[in-house]
Amino acid sequence: MLKDKKITLYVTGSIAIYKSLILARLLIKNGNEVKVVMTEDAQKFISPLTFQALTKNEVLTDVFVENDPKSISHIKTADDTDVAIIAPATANIIAKMANGIADDMASTTLLATQAPKFVIPSMNTHMLDNPATVRNLRQLSDDGITIMETANGLLAEGYTGKGRFPEPEEILNWLDSFFEAPLAGKNIVVTAGGTKERIDPVRYISNDSSGKMGIAIARAARNAGANVTLVVGSVSVKLPSGVKILKIESSTELLEETQKAFSSADALIMSAAVADFRPKRVVDHKIKKTADNDNLSIELVKNPDILKTLGSNKQDNQVMIGFAAETNDLIENAVKKIKNKNLDLIVANDVSDKRIGFNSNDNQVTYIFKDGKQVKSELASKDIIAKQIVDIMSQLLN
Ligand code: PMT
Repeated sequence: MLKDKKITLYVTGSIAIYKSLILARLLIKNGNEVKVVMTEDAQKFISPLTFQALTKNEVLTDVFVENDPKSISHIKTADDTDVAIIAPATANIIAKMANGIADDMASTTLLATQAPKFVIPSMNTHMLDNPATVRNLRQLSDDGITIMETANGLLAEGYTGKGRFPEPEEILNWLDSFFEAPLAGKNIVVTAGGTKERIDPVRYISNDSSGKMGIAIARAARNAGANVTLVVGSVSVKLPSGVKILKIESSTELLEETQKAFSSADALIMSAAVADFRPKRVVDHKIKKTADNDNLSIELVKNPDILKTLGSNKQDNQVMIGFAAETNDLIENAVKKIKNKNLDLIVANDVSDKRIGFNSNDNQVTYIFKDGKQVKSELASKDIIAKQIVDIMSQLLN
C-alpha cells in the first residue's frame, strides 16, 4: 500500500482536477506527505489555496518564485520526492514529459525527478487516440513511467468514450497495488534483452529483443519491495532506477553473471532472449570480401542452456521462472521446456504475432505451472503482464 511516502502530486489543466482534491485527501489519510505542483492552466480551474489548505504544504506554481534563498525549490522538491503522481495528466504535460520539455514549474520539476512516476491521463477520446498522444504515451512507458488506463464513460463533452479520469478511490487502489511489499527482503534476479555473439570485431549474431518485458519485470519486482539484480544484454529502452544492473554481451557472460547472482537469490526470472548458438571461432579482424569467394560459412557451436544449468542445481526454496518464445506449437513446446529446465513456471508467448512478443509494448501469454495448470492472460501492456508474473512469483515464494 502507498503509505508514509513523500508524494509530489502534479495537477494540470483538466476539468477532472476536482477529483485530485479527493485523491490528495485519500493519500494524506494513508499517512503520506503530499506536496502539490500546479500548472498555470490547472490554476484556472482551482485555486492553489484549496490544495494548500488540504495538504498544509506550500503549493508550487512558479519556477522563478524562490521563497528560501538557501535552496532551489524545483530541485529540492524533485529530490525530496519518493513518488511522483501526475493526475490529472493532460495531453500537454504528457507531450512535455515525453520530449523533455521544461518550461514551467511542473515540467521542470518532473524533469529533475528521479523518483518513480505514475501518470493518470485525462482527456477527450480523440485527443487520447491522436497518433501524437499514442506516441508520447509509448515514449513515457519506454522511459519507465507507469501509466494508468483511462476509464470509459461519460466525458465532459457530453458523449461517452475513453479518456475519462478514473475515480479517486480507483486511482488509489491502482497506486496501492504497486506498493504492496510482498517481496520485501527477497533477492530477485531478472534477465532482460538480447545477447550478442561476436563473429568479428564489428559483426555479431543477435535477436530483436528490446528488453521491454524483462525491464518491466525488474520494475514490478522493485515496486513489490524486492532487492533486484537485473542482468541485461542489448536493449532499446531506459534501464530502471533502484535496481542493481549487471551488463553483459554474450550468452557466456549472461550465464556467468546470472549464475553468480542466483547463488544467493530467492528467485530468477529469465526473460532474456538468449542465442542458442555462437560462432565457433571469433575472428580478430574484420572479415573481408574476396573476389574469388561468393560464400562465407560460419561454424556455430551450441551455447550452454542457462536455465537448464541453474535448474539442475537449484535449492528447494528457490523459484525459477522461464519464458518460452515460440512461433508454432506454443503450449506443447512450452510444456517441454518447463520440464526440461526444471522450472516452477513458464511464460509462453507467441512471438509470431507482431502485436506481442519481441519489441512490442503489449504481450499476451499463457502461464504454465509445474503441475500442468495453464492460465491465459488478456492482451495487456508489458507492465501489466510483468505485475502478474511478479504476483505469481510472490505466491510461489511464499
Ligand atoms: O525484450 P522484448 O522485446 O520485450 O521481448 C520479450 C521476449 C520475447 C524476449 C520475452 O518475452 C521472451 O520470450 N524471452 C525468452 C526468449 C527466449 O530465449 O526464449 P526460448 O524459448 O528460446 O528460451 C526458453 C527459456 O530458456 C527462456 O527463458 C530463455 O531465457 C532461456 N534460455 C534460452 C537459451 C539458452 N541458451 N539458455 C536459456 O536459459
